[in-house]
Amino acid sequence: MGKVALVTGGSRGIGAAISKALKEAGYEVAANYAGNDDAARAFTEETGIKTYKWSVADYEACEAGIKQVEEELGPIAVLVNNAGITRDAMFHKMTPQHWKEVIDTNLTGLFNMTHPVWTGMRDRKYGRIVNISSINGQKGQAGQANYSAAKAGDIGFTKALAQEGARAGITVNAICPGYIGTEMVRAIDEKVLNERIIPQIPVGRLGEPEEIARCVVFLASEDAGFITGSTISANGGQFFV
Ligand SMILES: NC(=O)c1ccc[n+]([C@@H]2O[C@H](COP(=O)([O-])OP(=O)(O)OC[C@H]3O[C@@H](n4cnc5c(N)ncnc54)[C@H](OP(=O)(O)O)[C@@H]3O)[C@@H](O)[C@H]2O)c1
Repeated sequence: MGKVALVTGGSRGIGAAISKALKEAGYEVAANYAGNDDAARAFTEETGIKTYKWSVADYEACEAGIKQVEEELGPIAVLVNNAGITRDAMFHKMTPQHWKEVIDTNLTGLFNMTHPVWTGMRDRKYGRIVNISSINGQKGQAGQANYSAAKAGDIGFTKALAQEGARAGITVNAICPGYIGTEMVRAIDEKVLNERIIPQIPVGRLGEPEEIARCVVFLASEDAGFITGSTISANGGQFFV
């Protein structure tokens, strides 16, 4: 049996592509999700990948969920922190609730998921953690003060933890996708997409979820053992750090 990989938000969008690519690469994959049971059921029927429901915003739920995955599949070697949400509003209209929900899921979720797997990875002297941040955590985005803050925080978390994990054989890296053609992005008005968004992307198209998934498979591999604390920008040339 292959190494175990756990993907948060792994049943839809970019996460689903990551789950499938890791399975194809030989991992035993567990896909976590928050609440969309129909999508999770359809995903399992299509792929044979088991899904597990809990919120990454809830530390105790993460501990319990990780324990269940490890009892059923074995110790987690690869953790992909992909689950994320948006609650967009211009700052003068942003509520404390908008702020809290995004920080709890997109930033604290990384603590909640990584902390319970960390000791086991240290003990086994092996681990791969890949955090899905965003171009908007690198450059900021109007209407997304909450999201940009959380995603920038993910990059700081990655760099700090990479230093702690290095001697224990654990790598920690981040990927910053640009606009990727998931349901969320394809739901944007076609005129806005074609006239305002795509012209800002030098390669002239949206990214595909599979293009992010291939970055994850590489960072998760044993071949990537010398890469840690890094941020891969996968944005079609839209923003250079
Ligand atoms: N799409 C883009 O263009 C883009 C660009 C840059 C960065 N990103 C980042 O890439 C990641 C995936 O984005 P996406 O577009 O694929 O999103 P998506 O299609 O909306 O899927 C989000 C996934 O995350 C899960 N999720 C949400 N909140 C959760 C929670 N509290 N606990 C556990 N799971 C939770 C959802 O579960 P349910 O199915 O149960 O709702 C779903 O599986 C996010 O971190 C996002 O910020 C996306």
